[in-house]
Amino acid sequence: MKEVKIETVLEVYSNLQELPDDIQKLMQAAINARNNAYSPYSNFNVGAAILLDNNETIIGSNQENASYPSGLCAERTAIYYAGAKFSNAKMLKIAISASSQNQLTTQPIPPCGACRQAIAEYEIKQSLPIEIYFMGAEGKVVKSKSLANLLPLVFESSVL
Ligand code: THU
Repeated sequence: MKEVKIETVLEVYSNLQELPDDIQKLMQAAINARNNAYSPYSNFNVGAAILLDNNETIIGSNQENASYPSGLCAERTAIYYAGAKFSNAKMLKIAISASSQNQLTTQPIPPCGACRQAIAEYEIKQSLPIEIYFMGAEGKVVKSKSLANLLPLVFESSVL
């Protein structure tokens, strides 16, 4: 038996102002996108904004459904929209902000496992890391230099 230790590295900023202007702008687009969330069941609003290498910014928000599993997270709404609209563009950065309507969300909210898998697909496809920034409604911002840092042991297509 061999024990395998997996480590990851993240950067934690105490607030959005500590980050460069272009990231603040991208995160502001994610914060604004939260207003378009359709979340009558969870009352949890998530916004995502993706910067592409053609300088376009694609936004998404969570869209829920009375048949709960039919809803979709903000990150996948955005990433599939980006893939559908600009299929040849590379995704450089994604900013995510989440806010509960029931309490002030001050802790950074990371993308769920399914969204990490979806983002990983595009990172592998484009052979270029996608930077991930995530926060709550306010407070700390976490940066990951690559989706891979958030999803060790990714399932990917080379095994198919
Ligand atoms: N949600 C996201 O949009 N992104 C995530 O990474 C986690 C969860 C949404 C899905 C659902 O509409 C609500 O937040 C509560 O789970």
